[in-house]
This record gives sequence, structure tokens and C-alpha cells, in this order.
Amino acid sequence: MTEPSTHPVPLTVHVPLDAGRDYDILIGRGLIETAGARMAALGGRRAAIVTDETVAALYGARLQDSLERAGLGSGVITVAPGESSKSYAGYAQVCDGLLALRVERGDLVVALGGGVVGDLAGFAAATLRRGVRFVQVPTSLLAQVDSSVGGKTGINAPLGKNLIGAFHQPRLVLADTATLDTLSEREMRAGYAEVAKYGLIADAAFFDWCEANWRGIFSGGPEREEAVAACCRAKAAVVTRDEREDGERALLNLGHTFGHALERLTGYDSARLVHGEGVAIGTALAFRFSARLGLCPGQDAGRVANHLALAGLPTRLQAVPGGCGDADALLDAMAQDKKVRDGALTFILARGIGQSFIAPGNDRSEERAFLEGELDADLRPSPRHRPSL
Ligand code: NAD
Ligand code: GLY
Repeated sequence: MTEPSTHPVPLTVHVPLDAGRDYDILIGRGLIETAGARMAALGGRRAAIVTDETVAALYGARLQDSLERAGLGSGVITVAPGESSKSYAGYAQVCDGLLALRVERGDLVVALGGGVVGDLAGFAAATLRRGVRFVQVPTSLLAQVDSSVGGKTGINAPLGKNLIGAFHQPRLVLADTATLDTLSEREMRAGYAEVAKYGLIADAAFFDWCEANWRGIFSGGPEREEAVAACCRAKAAVVTRDEREDGERALLNLGHTFGHALERLTGYDSARLVHGEGVAIGTALAFRFSARLGLCPGQDAGRVANHLALAGLPTRLQAVPGGCGDADALLDAMAQDKKVRDGALTFILARGIGQSFIAPGNDRSEERAFLEGELDADLRPSPRHRPSL
């Protein structure tokens, strides 16, 4: 790392994109109270808030008050919470709502919520009147460390995850870390899968730091802001070098080829699997697959799975409630991945912790054998670990 360090609040991470598309990510407690003034400084008369029912009840009025105090008129569009809103129907609901509010190009669309709301509102903003400015106010750990930054917006199709979308950068990101105090334990864990991901991709020292400090992120110590800032710095650097994923940005998809397939196979049903849980299983699989191919020490794959499990995350296909089908079902779902080239899957594999790389064109029979082995794995504790009766 990139050792995380304590700074005055709010921390600021700049995303230095060209042509006036650069923006700041502000990170700190209580930012919703000053959101109105910060958004008014961007210009415009009105801000339309897109949020979900859970977040609206917790933070909607507070954000609206702040906008009002800054002289920004606002309207609110509320979708159902969960992944199922990132759909054609959810997209139509948000676009129709924005049009009914007469949102113009000079106005702001404000995404208040987790990654679902951010991706959905961002895609609506990208396409409404061929492009309206938007601001991200991420309220889940996952959205603060990942989805609110970098301009990927979109929805899911029945045939695959995030297959309909656009690149549309926000004008500002306000990560109010106090909002994480109301996030459920399960969603904190899910977001933590994306935190650990940054260490596993290219920053072994950050993974060491996560192993030592993850509890502080959950409990709301200074480690929380430090981790969000470290992740945003890492993501901002990658996005600045490769905004449209022509190359290294694909590394940010570590664990996602497997994870997205699991989300599709569980019908985008957040009760069964949320995105971060899919990423956790996918990350553990990516490391075990790397070890099986002789690319990565088995010890590293074990260390990754142990840490994710310690943080309460699933690391095995068997952990998917209701199951996820057989190896062929998984391969078929993965075949819709955006990184597929000429029908061949591209995985993000690793030579070790912090040494991930893009691996295109893998051997299909090797992939099938690996998945069959994973699905057949006997996960019962070995006799010497069984408690004696
Ligand atoms: P989410 O948006 O569904 O939020 C998780 C749950 O937490 C929801 O039920 C929500 O209502 C609730 N919630 C959010 N903030 C809360 C708060 N402060 N207090 C209480 N409850 C709160 O899911 P997510 O994990 O935030 O995001 C997952 C989505 O992000 C997926 O669709 C994934 O594909 C997408 N994603 C996008 C990118 C990108 O670059 N665009 C990157 C990573 C993930
Ligand atoms: N989370 C993947 C990306 O933003 O590229």
C-alpha cells in the first residue's frame, strides 16, 4: 500500500479524468448534511433523488432538507430494495419518474443508496435526454468502496448480469460513512468482499492491513474511512488509466466471472445471494483455480478463503442457498460474461496475493473439471477435527 493513514475529515480522493470530467470523492461522517451546498456548487436548479425504500426511510428526508437549504428543488423516485430493481422494469420506472419530474439536462440526478440504486440511477441519467449530470451518495460499504466510483452504470438482463449499460461518470461522490451504521451485518460483509479484493488484485500490503484491521471497518473506527479512501484511491487510479476497460480495468472483476454467474443462477434474488457474497465465493474460486493450474501457491488460496470466512463470507459453491446447478449450468451462465472473447472465458487469476492478472482463453475441459471438483468437494470436517462424542 499505499498505507492508509488518518487525515482530516472529509478525506478527498480526486479522479483526474480529462475534458472536464474529473471529480472528487469525499469520504467522512455526516456528509449528507452538507450535500445540498456541495451539489449547489455544481450549478443547476433542481436535483432528483433516486433511492430505494429502505434508504429513503433512513436518509431521504435528511438529504432533501439539505438540498432545500441550499436552494435546490428536489423530487424523489423510490424503487424496491434489492437486486431485482436493476431490471428493465426498474429502469423504466426511474426514467418515467425523472421525466414526470421534468428533469432537464442542467439538473442533477442524485443516486442515494447502495450499488443497485447507483447503477440504476446512473444508467437512467446516462440515457435520459441523452445524458443528465449525476451525483452519487453511496450508503452501502460496497457502493462506497467500489460501485459509486468509475462511471460504470447499468442493469441486469434475464440472460446475464450488467449486460445493458453505459459509462457515465458522476460529477461528485459523497460517501457519508455514518450511513454504514445502519447497514445490516450481512450487507457490511458483502461490501467487505470488495474491500479485500483491492488487496488481492495488486496490493499485498493492503490485504495484510485488512487482515489486521477488518473489525475496525465493521465497528466504525477510523479504519472505516481509511479503508474506503484506500479502495477509492486504488479504483480511481485504475479508472484514470483505463476508463473503458480496454485493459487493466478488467482486474477489478476479480471473482466476478464466477460471482455474476451465481447471481444469475439465483435469479438476482437478494434473499438467496447478494452481489458481494457472489464476489466472495468467486474470489475464493479464482484463487483455488489459480492454485490448481499451478499458478499460485495453495497456501495463498487457503489464506484468502480463511480471511473471507473469518469475516463471515461464503467461499464455496455449496454455500449458495438452494444450490447453483451443475458445472454446465455455471459454464453456460459464465458464457454471457462481458469479458468473453470468441466464446472463450477470460478469468482474473492470480500468481499470489496482490498478483492478479487477466487470463484470456482458458481450456474449457480444465474449467469444467475444476467446477466439478468444487461441487463434489467433501466439506465435512476431517475426523480429527470432529468433536468427540
Ligand atoms: P444494494 O444497493 O442492494 O444495497 C444492499 C441493501 O442494503 C439494500 O437492501 C439497501 O436497501 C440496503 N442499504 C443500503 N444502504 C443502507 C444503509 N445505509 N442502511 C441500511 N440499509 C441500507 O447492494 P450493494 O451491495 O450496495 O450493491 C450491489 C450492486 O452494485 C450490484 O448490482 C453490483 O452489480 C453493483 N456494482 C456495481 C459496480 C460498478 O462499478 N458500477 C461495482 C460493484 C458492484
Ligand atoms: N467493479 C468493476 C469496475 O468498476 O470496473
